[in-house]
Amino acid sequence: MPVITIVGGQWGDEGKGKIVDLLAEKANVVIRYSGGDNAGHTVINHYGEFKLHLVPAGIFNPGATCILGNGVAVNPPELLKEIEEVKKKGVDTSRLYVSDRAHLIMPYHIILDRLEEERRGGAAIGTTLKGIGPVFTDKTARLGIRTCDLLNETTFRARLKSVLEIKNAVISKVYNAEPLSFETILNQYLEYGEKMAPYVRETTSIISDALLRKETILLEGAQGTMLDLDFGTYPYVTSSSPLASSSAAGSGISINKIDRIAGVFKAYLTRVGGGPMPTELKDETGEFIRKRAQEYGATTGRPRRCGWFDIVAGRFSIRVNGFDTVILTRIDILDTLPKLKICTGYKIGNDIVKNFPADLTVLEKCQPVYEELAGWQTPTNNLRDLKSLPSAARNYVTRLEELLERPISIISVGAKREQTIISRPIV
Ligand code: IMO
Ligand code: MG
Repeated sequence: MPVITIVGGQWGDEGKGKIVDLLAEKANVVIRYSGGDNAGHTVINHYGEFKLHLVPAGIFNPGATCILGNGVAVNPPELLKEIEEVKKKGVDTSRLYVSDRAHLIMPYHIILDRLEEERRGGAAIGTTLKGIGPVFTDKTARLGIRTCDLLNETTFRARLKSVLEIKNAVISKVYNAEPLSFETILNQYLEYGEKMAPYVRETTSIISDALLRKETILLEGAQGTMLDLDFGTYPYVTSSSPLASSSAAGSGISINKIDRIAGVFKAYLTRVGGGPMPTELKDETGEFIRKRAQEYGATTGRPRRCGWFDIVAGRFSIRVNGFDTVILTRIDILDTLPKLKICTGYKIGNDIVKNFPADLTVLEKCQPVYEELAGWQTPTNNLRDLKSLPSAARNYVTRLEELLERPISIISVGAKREQTIISRPIV
């Protein structure tokens, strides 16, 4: 006990990897429930530094079982590469399981992701080009190929043959690109299948046994709420659901077994890819934050757009997820700034916008209303308890708690596991 879902509260890259790695020290099971290798979860601990895209950040606890749930889209070569990378650093991967219901990212998904982005031109989403849109499209179109299909050569061969016919028609006739060879994909994937076989399981039974033993389970989110297919800034979103509600559907755990939902928020804001971001700083402060925080994508290396904390988006995120508590990361990045701003509302002309707009043409017109706070201008990296935080930093945290109407239980003051202030233990 308990079962806790960890969700990105903003546009992704909130530091979920660090937080899951930290909380996983006390967990028995850690489950990724959505997304794919579009995620980039940076973890720094005694094993070294890692950028995990698929393997759950709980893998560093030798006692924890790690699961890639049915809601995750698995790219086989990426998964196999990542397993090798962590193994090389001495991490035991024998407790890693992949759901037999997880969908597979196929070579045509990656090609179609690029072709679709090129076709969008100036309106490109800025995807990670990992095939995420196409794989989840196929899942809902019932054209997907799952992990269990890969392990059954007859099924895989038949499924690939029929799906590739459609995909090749689209690739060659709509996009005038080179069709893919059935034999090449077949042989490549059968080889991946052999290597993946030891990890593939019916994972709902593993989770249900853990629940019976009253074990501690972490559900590790990927991406962030504002990239959600339903509640994000559509169409500038990802193609799966990062929300807390999806942690049940994406793992096979019952909703009523989830005890706590924690939202991870950065002390400022970043977004990578296209789409509106009302508090974006296109000035030297934005550039300063990007440089100081090394805000470059863990998956694609792209510079992230930086801005001030946005309470309108934050409160919306709390509403659609039902966060009980907030985890605040990267507060140390703000250490040297003389003044900080928090966006407490949006305005269009003289009208106050109370709810986060669905219509992007409205969102684009929203002007942030800021509250200014004093900076603390002292390093916080080495602080380990709330009392030792400079008073201006405590004010910043308290003000966020007031505006979000949620307690902040954990404050991260650096990338390393131990650089953390825990004010209210959640595990
Ligand atoms: P983590 O788990 C930040 C963004 C992409 C793009 C949009 C759609 O590290 O927080 P996709 O490839 O998913 O079709 O791209 O979503 N995106 C992320 N941004 N963090 C992530 O994951 C992201 N995963 C996808 O940049 O704007
Ligand atoms: Mg990331």
